[in-house]
Amino acid sequence: MDAIEVIVAKRDGHELTTAQIDWVIDAYTRGEVAHEQMSSLAMAILLNGMNRREIAEWTQAMIRSGERMDWSMLERPTADKHSTGGVGDKITLPLAPLVAACGAYVPQLSGRGLGHTGGTLDKLESIPGWRASLSNEEMLAVLREAGAVICAAGSGLAPADKKLYALRDVTGTVESIPLIASSIMSKKIAEGTGSLVLDVKVGSGAFMKTVERARELAETMVALGSDAGVRTVALLTAMDRPLGKQIGNALEVEESVEVLAGGGPADVVELTVRLAREMLEAAGVSGKDPEQALKDGSAMDAWRRMIAAQGGDPDAVLPRAAESMTVDAPESGVLTTLDAYAVGLAAWRLGAGRARQEDPVSFGAGITLHAKPGDLVRAGQPLMTLHADETARFARALDALEGGYAVGPVSVEQLPLVIDRIG
Ligand code: URA
Repeated sequence: MDAIEVIVAKRDGHELTTAQIDWVIDAYTRGEVAHEQMSSLAMAILLNGMNRREIAEWTQAMIRSGERMDWSMLERPTADKHSTGGVGDKITLPLAPLVAACGAYVPQLSGRGLGHTGGTLDKLESIPGWRASLSNEEMLAVLREAGAVICAAGSGLAPADKKLYALRDVTGTVESIPLIASSIMSKKIAEGTGSLVLDVKVGSGAFMKTVERARELAETMVALGSDAGVRTVALLTAMDRPLGKQIGNALEVEESVEVLAGGGPADVVELTVRLAREMLEAAGVSGKDPEQALKDGSAMDAWRRMIAAQGGDPDAVLPRAAESMTVDAPESGVLTTLDAYAVGLAAWRLGAGRARQEDPVSFGAGITLHAKPGDLVRAGQPLMTLHADETARFARALDALEGGYAVGPVSVEQLPLVIDRIG
């Protein structure tokens, strides 16, 4: 078998055979298939698609490229959540300890942000001392201690995906449903969770801009999970506006702690509780009610144990950016638009995100929203505060926000927070 045969087959719109898929993933992982050949194949897949059998076999081949974790020694069921990424999406932070407090184990491998969407690990690293890299033994110890662990995937987990994702990122081949679905699900299945809830974001701040595309991605991932024996459901949720009121690393940790303390913005609380219920149901755990666990402090206790078990100080003062400026309402009326992509891009330009994988992030940078779509505002009232380490960053953030917010006489209809459930 050679790479050209596989590329030409997909280029000409044919189904790839099992042998072709197994060979190309294995040979690419070993370095026998060159990056330019894989890049060409990824483009052919983006243009011509893959059917359900091909996607399932592609996913299984990526799982086989590395280790498969196993949590069967734990006495309680495991549950995990994966979000396809959004602006202000800090839900994993309160959700993992919340679900742990309600009786399931949550072994969660998370990622760093790239582009305008933030990464869970970058957020948690704003907590002094907190460590993202854990060995499998350390992961197990944190799980036993706190019921939840959030850490970086080791290099042994789906290495084929690690290589392929980095390649897709620089070759315009990210936005392919078969490639996104197999990338996400290979890691989640290899992670060994017994059940999985997918939060598939829809809107300007998400990979999937329309409900139709998000539904197709969700259905593909739910089928992959179910075929692999992982109980999987998906929610389609709104990402046309940012989630919550804080966007940035330390800022989102602060907001998550507010939720764990029984407060926080209504949309963050609603989605956290809904996802917790879905995870507990998928895991077959009928313990405590998540709303109760937020009120009685048990979710906060699990958070504190989880942070401390990974070297962090849950009482530490979080980093703050040195500079701030407000963006004020241009007139009185209703905030009709607050575009997730514009706000995410502005936060990224303020220093909250990174342009290249090796870049550092600013922990204190980001945006605090003082109004959300549908709120009444007065002319001159602050709509948001921008935070950055240098004032020089404000001008480019303001450019990103240009046209991204609007005040008008009447409310404009938004996507419901939870649009649909699949599975
Ligand atoms: N997240 C992933 O892990 N993979 C993708 O392809 C897209 C988002």
